[in-house]
Amino acid sequence: MRIAVFAGDGIGPEVTGEAVRVLEKLGLPNLELVEGDVGGAAYRKHGHPLPEATLDIARSADAILFGAVGDFDLDHLERHLRPEQAVLGLRKELGLFANLRPARVFKGLEGLTSLRPEVAQEIDLLIVRELNGDVYFGEKGMRRLEDGRRQGWDMMSYAEDEVRRIAHAGFKAAMTRDKKLCSVDKANVLETSQLWRDVVIEVSKDYPEVELAHMYVDNAAMQLVKNPGQFDVVVTGNLFGDILSDQASMCVGSIGLLASASLAEGSFGLYEPIHGSAPDIAGKGLANPMATILSAAMMLRHSFGLEAEAVRIEEAVAAALADGIKGGDLGGSAGTVEIGDAVLARL
Ligand code: IPM
Ligand code: MG
Repeated sequence: MRIAVFAGDGIGPEVTGEAVRVLEKLGLPNLELVEGDVGGAAYRKHGHPLPEATLDIARSADAILFGAVGDFDLDHLERHLRPEQAVLGLRKELGLFANLRPARVFKGLEGLTSLRPEVAQEIDLLIVRELNGDVYFGEKGMRRLEDGRRQGWDMMSYAEDEVRRIAHAGFKAAMTRDKKLCSVDKANVLETSQLWRDVVIEVSKDYPEVELAHMYVDNAAMQLVKNPGQFDVVVTGNLFGDILSDQASMCVGSIGLLASASLAEGSFGLYEPIHGSAPDIAGKGLANPMATILSAAMMLRHSFGLEAEAVRIEEAVAAALADGIKGGDLGGSAGTVEIGDAVLARL
């Protein structure tokens, strides 16, 4: 079990530190941790947010535990040197095309979400977000129009094979859950989405047991706060999935609780909290490490097939929350290490 630990910027080192303590506590045989530089931290040391040495570590590993990248002081850099390119580069270079972002309300937190408790408690959904294509990776640029106005542009596209493989990931995930899949697109306006919808329908023939629905993204954003209990698995493109998953995090209480897996074909994956580097609280010991700890649980499940250990971690986090251990993101006062200790004590 060779795990690359890429802590990154801001609160990244603090939260990955706690997740590593949890992994070590499990006493897994063959656990090997290798650190690498990513993001702004890597730029400052090596002049690049995703140095070749880091990519080599990633390629030699069985899975990656990732913290966060992002540094306002580096936002003036050319785009390819900005911290965010580390995670975008890893996703692309390693073919991490399927991003799983589960969201459910932990017991005891029903009153802390942005929704009414009776609406929030119904949430138990999984967003399956495509991660290698869409407007994120299309051609882009800044140009001058003939009349001298500046124009920024980004090309959105999906090829059918890209849609097909994420559709399969969505249907497969649905088969392990309540067998309901909602494909989110903007087919009333975008050609990219029309192809998306056509291909999802083609793939659905392979999964007759799964109930398939289609929803426009604006409606999906509305339904996610109106009646989130209707969703089981949501499959969508890179940009829509980015937006809807942040929204889902607030529906369940805090972005500090949402884990994610970014999977390649096979068992390789990158696991990261969906929150960012939170520069405002970095280095203060205030960040909630639960999302990263839960990401480590997803790693054990998806990359190593260690379902029992994954559940152990998830139950320890749930128990800590039920006992009132809450970080500042949940209106509590527990610090990073205190939360880590609380989870360790309940493992
Ligand atoms: C996410 C983040 C990234 C994204 C950023 C940091 C590039 O928001 O993982 O959701 O947009 O995908
Ligand atoms: Mg995002």
